[in-house]
Amino acid sequence: MNRSFILKGNIFHTPEPDRLAVRENAHVVCEDGVCRGVFDIIPERYGVLPVIDCGDKMILPGMVDLHIHAPQFAYRGTGMDYELIEWLDNIAFPEEALYADADYALRAYTQFADRMRASATTRAAIFGTVHAASTLILMDRMENSGLVSYVGKVNMDRDAPPALIEDPAEGVGADTRWFIEESERRGYRHTKPIITPRFVPSCTDALMEALGEIRAEYDLPVQSHLSENPIEIELVRQLVPRAAFYGDAYDRFGLFGRGSNTVMAHCVYSAPPEVERMKRNGVWVAHCPSSNMNIASGVAPVRRYMDEGLRIGLGTDVAGGTSESMFRAVTDAIQVSKLYWRYIDLDAKPLTFPEALYLATKGGGSFFGKVGSFEEGYAFDALVLDDSAESTPRPLPVRSRLERAFYLGLDRDGLVMKFVDGERVF
Ligand code: GUN
Ligand code: FE
Repeated sequence: MNRSFILKGNIFHTPEPDRLAVRENAHVVCEDGVCRGVFDIIPERYGVLPVIDCGDKMILPGMVDLHIHAPQFAYRGTGMDYELIEWLDNIAFPEEALYADADYALRAYTQFADRMRASATTRAAIFGTVHAASTLILMDRMENSGLVSYVGKVNMDRDAPPALIEDPAEGVGADTRWFIEESERRGYRHTKPIITPRFVPSCTDALMEALGEIRAEYDLPVQSHLSENPIEIELVRQLVPRAAFYGDAYDRFGLFGRGSNTVMAHCVYSAPPEVERMKRNGVWVAHCPSSNMNIASGVAPVRRYMDEGLRIGLGTDVAGGTSESMFRAVTDAIQVSKLYWRYIDLDAKPLTFPEALYLATKGGGSFFGKVGSFEEGYAFDALVLDDSAESTPRPLPVRSRLERAFYLGLDRDGLVMKFVDGERVF
């Protein structure tokens, strides 16, 4: 499709965390997949572009999911009566072991990618499993989905069932190299590999060292988990006594920012030295409120991180998180921040709706470049949302309509168009 056009309707975006820009009956211009801004009247230079009139519908930037596990999608909404380590042993690992079977992987990843396509998510950072061949199947499915994504072959070589432990006899990191090279050979346009140590408890120093070398050699981004749960953090202390703090155990191997885009999920318990290092190294936080509730990890101090100037986005963390819905992640983030404020820190003001929307768009979008806003020069990732089926006798201002669409989960039935880099997904 031609990637130059204009959408007309009620346009929203968050150029700054505390500013929801609302333009009713306005135009947002896409030229060669790049946003040229929002205008009340179409500038003459864009006069030749076709206009898609969305009427009274709402137009907003696509959502960025900074942390999701594709192989866990199959059991989402089940197995929630555990904390992290028990949940991994009893729920996540047994399911992930099934992905040694390519037929199972194809079926499961097709369902996952179909749902991602239909969702409000336009970009995502995704975990596969340890299996390189199955994770390539995931990449194929994601490439077809129309989303832009990073997909990681998970690395783990200790403290898991034998079926999920990498075989060092093949050379530490050898299958990760194969995965990267094979994914590059396939020439995907929207789907790129990302270095993915599962978390420190799953990775020996030898594996971390190999991943650090591979990361530098191929110049790839990194994703992992950090300071999610007290038992996990104590485990890291015992396993890597030399590390000054959890994040230092990644940083020692060149897997914690400093030139490479790195996103760490959770950061519920990051103490000031870890926060300071993340800030200095430019590490992104993927805040995953649904997961943090379900497996009882706690509430991340997002207000403090925002005040400190950390880079932050939102993740669904399916299937610690219940749902792939980023609309739900936005409202969950607001709701848990209210409990944090009320029960833990009266100085940590709750997140507002514009702030949470910012995290889900421009905040997480920055991991992918100029993404998540309708400012000039940003990638044109957009959603068109129809809320008319959810009727109300009271005429609502458009800003309230947008907020309501998030709280009522209208991303499930109300999305009528989705664009990524100016390409129409549906
Ligand atoms: N830490 C290590 N692996 C996982 C996982 O699969 N989910 C979550 N939430 N945390 C983890
Ligand atoms: Fe996770």
